[in-house]
Amino acid sequence: MKSINLAVLGLGTVGTGVVNLLKDNVQELTRRSGYQLNITHVGTRRHRTDIDPTIKQSADLMAIAAADDVDIVIEVIGGTDVAKEVIIHAIKHKKHVVTANKALLAKHGNEIFALADKHGVQVRYEAAVAGGIPIIKIIREALAANKIDWVAGIINGTGNFILTEMQQKNRKFGDVLAEAQALGYAEADPTFDVEGIDAGHKLSLLASIAFGIPLQFDKVYCEGITKISLQDVVYAKELGYTIKHLGFAFRRDHGFELRVHPTLIPNSTLLANVNGVKNAVMVDAHPLGQSLYYGDGAGAGATASAVMADVMDLIYVIEAGARTDDDTLADVPHLAFIPEELSDTRVLPSDEMTCGYYLRLTVKDELGVLADTTRILSDNGINIDAIMQRDAHKSGLVPIIILTLPVLEKQMNKAIKEIEALNAVTEPVVRIRLESLDE
Ligand code: HSE
Repeated sequence: MKSINLAVLGLGTVGTGVVNLLKDNVQELTRRSGYQLNITHVGTRRHRTDIDPTIKQSADLMAIAAADDVDIVIEVIGGTDVAKEVIIHAIKHKKHVVTANKALLAKHGNEIFALADKHGVQVRYEAAVAGGIPIIKIIREALAANKIDWVAGIINGTGNFILTEMQQKNRKFGDVLAEAQALGYAEADPTFDVEGIDAGHKLSLLASIAFGIPLQFDKVYCEGITKISLQDVVYAKELGYTIKHLGFAFRRDHGFELRVHPTLIPNSTLLANVNGVKNAVMVDAHPLGQSLYYGDGAGAGATASAVMADVMDLIYVIEAGARTDDDTLADVPHLAFIPEELSDTRVLPSDEMTCGYYLRLTVKDELGVLADTTRILSDNGINIDAIMQRDAHKSGLVPIIILTLPVLEKQMNKAIKEIEALNAVTEPVVRIRLESLDE
């Protein structure tokens, strides 16, 4: 039987998950591909006694990436320095690569994909976005006949796990984060999860393959979940909304909007009911309409499933190459569109983005403060959708909650500045974006 040799670089949560998956499912993988799959090398700093002794273990990742008995290099070490060097070395040695490294691709993907094209190899990255949900394959291949208008998703499992536990069980942020780390969901640096950076990396990949634009992580507006208070969660619920951390990529008339941030979405939407470590990505496409993809967004099993799906696809590429004697046989373009067709359409700065808002004002209980606030909003062309005034706190201060229809962020910034300048407004205005996710 023909065989394929794999190197697994990194034996953390994901690498160990890949080794275990292969052990558990090797027969199924062979039945599907017609190939015997062997892990010939693992790259690890510390020798592991729990690994099959026939697998070579080494800390010399560069040597492994170039070894003759390696066909596919699986990079699951994370980080952007060593990982980049190793992947480039593997590509130059004509190895296909599978990576789960969204931070690396978001920053250096354009360069890495161009190099892979030059050397006639593939860099596969299903595991980089939304864990086990095959969203890269769906957008790149299954939806290839569509023009995509927007993508919206809960794409950080750790963040969704924290928000869910806080909202449903009243647990403390720090405790839930520690649990997410213990469960292997969180990034090595968990600020990437809670500050929206990991979701921003993933969103830049989704936007590229949805719209056919180069990777532009530096233009993604990123805001995390650290400032979400339970008070806002409760008020949002009363108004019929759930707060989720979402990534959005919108096609607008004058450019693309790429942003990740906490968002009020109607309780009735499917995304509002995606809880725990689950991720979900909704795609609005023509002519398909809206479709939704759901599953585990982090963890060893989900991520290993995505890594091994890429390995299987590469085996089919290798097999097709062997049949035609052309080992550079073209595969799906890395960013879903052929490189010379990638568009340079502008990514809009945050000032030019449009969305609805939840505003929470803390005001002195004085005559006319509500009238002043609504006048400022209307003077700035902002349409109010709902307004709610709550009982005064013991301090005598009153919370006022306002929901607005979509407005240009520049106008909202100006209105908030004017509201905060009112004498009766005692604290900075809390603002959370709102999306209705209408078709
Ligand atoms: N830290 C990431 C998350 C892992 O929580 O979603 C999966 O990319």
